[in-house]
Amino acid sequence: MHRRILFSKEQIDKRVNELALEISRDYQGVEPVFVGLLKGVIFFFSDLLRAISIPARIDFIRAESYGNSMESSGNIRITKDVEVDLRSKHVIVVDDIVDTGLTLSHIVDVVRSRGAETIKVCALIDKMERRTSNINIDYWGFRIEKGFVVGYGLDYAEKFRCLPDIYVLEEKVNNDTVKGD
Ligand code: PRP
Repeated sequence: MHRRILFSKEQIDKRVNELALEISRDYQGVEPVFVGLLKGVIFFFSDLLRAISIPARIDFIRAESYGNSMESSGNIRITKDVEVDLRSKHVIVVDDIVDTGLTLSHIVDVVRSRGAETIKVCALIDKMERRTSNINIDYWGFRIEKGFVVGYGLDYAEKFRCLPDIYVLEEKVNNDTVKGD
C-alpha cells in the first residue's frame, strides 16, 4: 500500500484557522459545547479549539461501528459517552471525516436525545462517494469524492494517525503516485 499526499500540514492549518474564524463569528455571545468524536478527531479538534476565539466547552464521545475496517456498517454503539450536561446547550459535533455519514447521524441523534437546543456538525473531510445518510455538514474543511485517507488522526488499522499531513492510500504504484511515499 502506497500513500500519496493529499493535503499538506500548511493547507490543513490554513483551513482549520478559517473554520475556527467562521465558527467563532457564528457563535458570538454563545458558549457552545464542542463534542469531538474519538479517536480520529484528536488533532483536528485540538487545532480547531485552540483557534476558536470565543468561550467554549469541550467534551468527547466515542462510537464503535461493527463491520470491516474500511467501511462503516451502520451498527453503532457508544463506548465512551459525553460527560457535560447537554440540556439546552448549543452543540457542535466535530469529526475528522464523514464517509457514509452513519456514525455522525447516529451521534447527532444521541446529542438531540440529551436535550441540546441546537446541533451543528463540523467535519474536516467531507467524502461524498459512499454517503448513505442525508446528514447536513454545517462546517467542512475539504470535500473529496473518494479515496481512503490517512494521517492527521485518520488511520488504517490504527496506522498512520500521527502523520502531520493527510494522505490517500493507493493499492497500485504508478509513476504519478510514488512521490509522496
Ligand atoms: C471514522 C471517522 C468517522 C467515521 C466515518 O471513525 O472518524 O467517525 O469513521 O465513517 P462513516 O461516515 O461511514 O460512519 P472510526 O470508526 O474509524 O474510528 P476512529 O475515529 O477511532 O478512527
